[in-house]
Amino acid sequence: MKLVIINDQEVRAETIAKEILSLVKEKPNAVLGLATGSSPIKTYQKVIELAKKDNIDFSNVTSFNLDEYINNPDFTQSYRYFMDTHLFNFINIKKENTHFPSLEGLKTYDEEIKKAGGVDLQLLGIGADGHIGFNEPNTPFDSLTHIADLTEKTIQDNSRFFASIKDVPTQAVTRGRQSIRNAKKIILIATGKNKALAIEKTFGKVNEATPASLLNRHPDATIYCDEEAASLLKK
Ligand code: GLP
Repeated sequence: MKLVIINDQEVRAETIAKEILSLVKEKPNAVLGLATGSSPIKTYQKVIELAKKDNIDFSNVTSFNLDEYINNPDFTQSYRYFMDTHLFNFINIKKENTHFPSLEGLKTYDEEIKKAGGVDLQLLGIGADGHIGFNEPNTPFDSLTHIADLTEKTIQDNSRFFASIKDVPTQAVTRGRQSIRNAKKIILIATGKNKALAIEKTFGKVNEATPASLLNRHPDATIYCDEEAASLLKK
């Protein structure tokens, strides 16, 4: 697993955006695994900016998002809405090629990814407790797309996006640890002190208690973070 520390948000986002765009240039029908949350927002802005500048064609790209809330009364808080308004509406990806896990498609999501050729590049954020997607601590190593009960900590952390904590959905559909590990390349973004413990644990022993520790066993995984998120790592 590679660690890249870049404090400047613009430079960090541009570096990651360039990785995504060079993949799409090289492989116009690339399969992207995409994430939501505040961590990838700047990267998506850079993808939009550079794709426009360099005329990058996303019309044959397919995407599979990591997760989606269940029983979410507010569409503007859905991950579909997030992706439309932060990325999809501003590049020429075809909406029918953008996928989200759902209750109805629970059993077939991993199969669909396989049929599309597998994820070439998976973008990830990380929860303060080390969760990725909505794979909360102690999600089995071999899990595929499944229904996840969100922990109190995650509900609390995600409540900042909702009017009240009571509005935060308590369940989601998420790709599992195995589904994420299957990606050919993984990029995880983590910034701020709030993520320092999670990053320390990610570099520790691969275990079920820290879902992100699966990156340790992945042949092509890179963590992009700032000094704060890396502050508990030994030199
Ligand atoms: C949510 C998402 C995760 C994301 C995490 C961290 O729980 N399901 O995919 O990584 O939040 O979000 P943020 O980047 O806003 O800190």
